[in-house]
Amino acid sequence: MSLSKTYFADVATQWDDLRSGFFTEEMRDAAIKKAGLSAAAVVADIGTGTGFMLQGLVPHTAQQVGFDESADMLFIARQNLAAYPTVELHEAEGQQLPAADNSFDAVFANMYLHHTPDPLNAITEMARILKPGGKLIITDLDSHDQSWMREEMADRWLGFERTTIQDWYKAAGLTHIDIDCAEGTCDCASPTAEAISLSIFVAIGQKRT
Ligand SMILES: C[S@@+](CC[C@H](N)C(=O)[O-])C[C@H]1O[C@@H](n2cnc3c(N)ncnc32)[C@H](O)[C@@H]1O
Repeated sequence: MSLSKTYFADVATQWDDLRSGFFTEEMRDAAIKKAGLSAAAVVADIGTGTGFMLQGLVPHTAQQVGFDESADMLFIARQNLAAYPTVELHEAEGQQLPAADNSFDAVFANMYLHHTPDPLNAITEMARILKPGGKLIITDLDSHDQSWMREEMADRWLGFERTTIQDWYKAAGLTHIDIDCAEGTCDCASPTAEAISLSIFVAIGQKRT
């Protein structure tokens, strides 16, 4: 089992509490608003975990599909989203999504990219399933130096430079790229209980029509 799968199997039942220290509902809702989706939109969330982003998308969109490689995280997501018949959840590797080309109006990925083995491939795969004109919205950490997060939180990447994200979006065929700060910062406690603030970006790009 990969480090990421082992980690998320261990923390699945506590994830909603852990996540709230990193990424708030206000930050999520601001990112969703920025995407400017129509009420008829069919959306996907990659690395959906316990379904936090999908919960925010339900009131604003018509159909929501979550993908995650962790059966344990999806088990909690199914409980969190049981009341919503418009939601579908699939256990899947994000580098090879079981979804047709050109099938979603928007694809979201919150705090997923820094866990992926090959982020450019992950972005290319998310772009593949977007309809022409559809939007990719990634929220993730800016580049940082908190190397303990590799061992403690199974992070493969210590955030990303925004210029790199911009290059990867272009390479995946996305245009109208806008990368900005998410509302607020991401606060967490280090293993020594020292409070640390990390910044988060929201990157939006559009698939060519
Ligand atoms: C930090 S959590 C974020 C969960 C959720 N997006 C949220 O905001 O609460 C990262 C999620 O990505 C999933 N993940 C990591 N690598 C993945 C991969 N290669 N394919 C699919 N899911 C993956 C993990 O299982 C985990 O649920």
